[in-house]
Amino acid sequence: MHNTAISDTAIPAIEINNLYVAFDGDLVLEDINLTVEKGDYLGIIGPNGGGKSTLLRTILGLIAPLRGSIKVLGQPAQENHQQIGYVPQYILFDRYFPVKVGEVVLMGRLGKRQGFSYSRRDRQIAEQALQRAGVEHLKNRQIGELSGGERQRVLLARALAAEPSILLLDEPTASVDPGFQVTFYELLAELNENMTIILVSHDISAVSRYVKRIACLNRRMFCSDGLEITAEIVEEMYHCPVDLIAHGIPHRVLPAHEGVAGH
Ligand SMILES: Nc1ncnc2c1ncn2[C@@H]1O[C@H](COP(=O)(O)OP(=O)(O)OP(=O)(O)O)[C@@H](O)[C@H]1O
Ligand SMILES: [Mg+2]
Repeated sequence: MHNTAISDTAIPAIEINNLYVAFDGDLVLEDINLTVEKGDYLGIIGPNGGGKSTLLRTILGLIAPLRGSIKVLGQPAQENHQQIGYVPQYILFDRYFPVKVGEVVLMGRLGKRQGFSYSRRDRQIAEQALQRAGVEHLKNRQIGELSGGERQRVLLARALAAEPSILLLDEPTASVDPGFQVTFYELLAELNENMTIILVSHDISAVSRYVKRIACLNRRMFCSDGLEITAEIVEEMYHCPVDLIAHGIPHRVLPAHEGVAGH
């Protein structure tokens, strides 16, 4: 007898088929098909309003699709969101919101803890997450009084505290200073050794330097097998001359083409 069971490793981290999402009758995502294998590191670029945050929130099960399906590790998205760590693009805290950084990071354990209170192990994991994100020194500060970059690092710590197997990051370095950006991307590369990552960013040069695969999203998705996204695709996505965008981008992302120096 042959063993016909599909091994665990064959199940993709995320599988999206014919996904449509609309708000008030307006299509925001149209016929998205995407498979993200375990261990992959996908960068998503695209213009403002292109649907990037919507896609991440739909993967998280926060938005119901109009049509199509999303599977997370083989299960419907709504049933498997505990496997996903999420660093949102915006999160507003009142300046006087009375919660300390340490508590925000501990909240990452909410879906994982046993019973009603946090265990010693939950606290240890939260502590490690604070250290990994380089924010252990902020532990006793109020979340509302942090700078934008500090806050983004804390949100990464909160996501890591959940010990997710998939990490979704929405513009995580938008207000992170250049010095920490490198550390941030190096940390993501290290995490990618045992985590699947999807990174949404407008920082095309950073994305192209660190990710394994790149996709463009502007209502529809253009995905590549590797890092080769053609100038035409990017031009179509952003509706602006590609040499504006291509400035400083390693050529493996945008191969030589008319109008932009190839070497
Ligand atoms: N909850 C909502 N209700 C109504 N419309 C929405 C909602 N969320 C997003 N939209 C609309 O959907 C479109 C896609 O928004 P989305 O936030 O996904 O874009 P984005 O690619 O993340 O953009 P950005 O680069 O600015 O972050 C926009 O036109 C936005 O106005
Ligand atoms: Mg967004």
